[in-house]
Amino acid sequence: MKANELRDKYIKFFIEKKHKFIRSAPLVPENDPTVLFTTAGMHPLVPYLIGEKHPLGKRLVSVQKCVRTGDIDEVGDICHLTFFEMLGNWSLGDYFKKEAIDYSYEFLTGFKWLNLPLDKLAFSVFAGDDDAPFDEEAYNHWIDKGIPPNRIAKLGKKDNWWGPAGQTGPCGPDTEMFYWVGEDPAPEKFDPENKLWIEIWNDVFMQYNKTKEGRYEPLSQKNVDTGMGLERVLAAMQGKQSPYETELFTPMFKKLDEIRDISNTENNRSASERIIVEHLRTATFMMGDGVVPGNVDQGYILRRLIRKAIREAKRLGVDTMFTSKIAEVVIAEYSHYYKELSNSCKFIFDELDREEKQFANTLEKGIKEFEKLISKVPAHINKKVISGKNAFFLYETYGFPIELTEEMAKELSFEVDRNGFFKAFRKHQEMSRKGAEQKFKGGLADNSEKTTALHTATHLLHEALRRVLGGHVHQRGSNITAERLRFDFSHPDKVTKEQLAEIEKTVNDAIRANLPVTVEEMSVEEARKSGATGIFGEKYGEIVKVYTIGSYCKEICGGPHVKNTGELGTFKIKKEESSSRGIRRIKALLS
Ligand code: ALA
Repeated sequence: MKANELRDKYIKFFIEKKHKFIRSAPLVPENDPTVLFTTAGMHPLVPYLIGEKHPLGKRLVSVQKCVRTGDIDEVGDICHLTFFEMLGNWSLGDYFKKEAIDYSYEFLTGFKWLNLPLDKLAFSVFAGDDDAPFDEEAYNHWIDKGIPPNRIAKLGKKDNWWGPAGQTGPCGPDTEMFYWVGEDPAPEKFDPENKLWIEIWNDVFMQYNKTKEGRYEPLSQKNVDTGMGLERVLAAMQGKQSPYETELFTPMFKKLDEIRDISNTENNRSASERIIVEHLRTATFMMGDGVVPGNVDQGYILRRLIRKAIREAKRLGVDTMFTSKIAEVVIAEYSHYYKELSNSCKFIFDELDREEKQFANTLEKGIKEFEKLISKVPAHINKKVISGKNAFFLYETYGFPIELTEEMAKELSFEVDRNGFFKAFRKHQEMSRKGAEQKFKGGLADNSEKTTALHTATHLLHEALRRVLGGHVHQRGSNITAERLRFDFSHPDKVTKEQLAEIEKTVNDAIRANLPVTVEEMSVEEARKSGATGIFGEKYGEIVKVYTIGSYCKEICGGPHVKNTGELGTFKIKKEESSSRGIRRIKALLS
C-alpha cells in the first residue's frame, strides 16, 4: 500500500463512521505560545477538547502535519524523523472507549481496510498509578475482541499516557497498537521492549485536564484523540525496515544522487544522506507555512535544520547549491495533498537559496577557525573544552548554531561550554541594549508628550502596515525617542513608494478622524478573544492592558497613549530599509 492510498482509506473509513474531515492546521500553532510547532493532530483541536463547540460536530478525522524536535539529534538512524504526518480521529464528547477500540480494530484488520493479520498485532493499556486507575475498561474491550491476554501489556504513565501537548491541557490514559515486523510467526507473548513490535496507533482517552499547578482534574467532556504515524505504518505495511525505504523518501534520495552525480541502485543510505533529505523535507514544510530562517524561535530551528543539511552535504562532497533542488522534489511529491507547498514554492526556493549562499560563504572559514581553536588546546589536557566565548564567536561571526559547534566538537571528543555560550550571548544582548539606550534617550520609560504621541502613532502604523501589506506583518521591534519612532516588522520585500504613500495616508486618515483612545484591563485569554493584536507570550502578565483606537485597531500594550488621535499632528515616513532578513524597518515622525 502506498502513502496516498493509506491517507485516503483512513479518511474514507472514518467518514463512513460519520466523522467530518478537517484539513491539516499549519505547522506553527496559531494560538499557542507555549510550543513552537504543532506536535500532534490534537494540538489545533485543544479548544474543542476542553469544551468549545466545533462547527463540524463531534466526530472529526484529519491528516495533520507535525514537527517534533525532541529527537532531532537522533535523525540519521533508520527510524527518527522531525516531520511526520499523523492520521487521527476524534470524538469530542461523543463516543468513548468501546467505539474507539471497535473502530481501530476494524480499520486495522478489516478486509476492506488495512487487512493486517490479527496474529501480528499486540496492544497495551494503562496499568494505573496515583493519578489515575488501571484502564480496565479498555483492557476488557480488547479481551471482548478475542485478543489473548498475553498480547495485552499493562504499562505505566511513561508508555500509556498521553498529553498534554503543551505544559497544561487535556490528557489521559491511552491504548496503543503494535505490529510485528520480524520473521513469522510473531511471538505468542507481547514484549514491549522488543523493537520488532512497532507501535502503529495510539488511542488516547482524554478524561483529564492538567492544570498549571500539575493537578489532573476530570474533564467535563470525555474525548477520544487518536494518532497513527503515517510514515511508520507505511514502512511496516510495505515490509520495509524504515520509512526512509518507502516512496516518501526515495525520490529525494534519487535527486541527491543526481546532484552528486553517482548512481545508487542498492538504495542503501548513509546517515548523512538521511539527514539531508529528512531535514530538507521538514524545512520545506516549515517554509510552506511561512517560517523564515532566523535567530529565534521557529526560524532558529529551521535555520539549524538547513545548516545541518548543508554541512552533511559538504561531507559528501557536494559543492553546488542543492537545497532548493531537494525542496523541489518535496513540493512535487506532496503538493497534491498540501497545496500550500506549491503556492509558496517561490518563497521556499528564494529563502533556501539565500540561506544556503549566506551559510556557504562562512561555513568553510568557520570550519578553519574551528580547527584553529581546537589545535590551540594542548594535547595533554584530558577534558577538552571549547569555551563559551569561542562558541559565541563562531555563532556571531560565522553563523554556527551552538548545536553545530557541539556536534563538530563531539566528533573530536571535545565539549562545548554551553552555559558560557549563553552567558556571552546575554552579555552581547545587554551591551547592544545599553548602546541603544544611550543613543536614544526616551523609550517606554519616557512619558513626555512627544514620546506618548509617537507611541500612539506606532499603533496606527502597525495597523496600517497590516491593512496595506497584509496580515503577515507582525511587530518585531519598536524604539521611540522624543524625535522619531522606529518600527521593525516582518515583511519579505522592500515596501514600494506607492505602498508607503498609502500607509502614510491610512495613518493620517486615522489621525484626522479624531478617534478616541480607550484602555481596558483583561486577561490574556480575553484579549486574544477580543481580537487584539500583540505578542501573546509569557512577556505579559496574567492581566494585560488593551488599547482600542476607535474602531481602527486594538492592541495589547503597556501604554502610555494620547486620549485622542487628533492630538497627533501629521504623520510622515522618513525612511524604509531592511533591518535583518525578512524584517523591514520604518522611521517616521510627527509634525
Ligand atoms: N495525541 C496522540 C499522539 O500523539 C494520539 O500519540
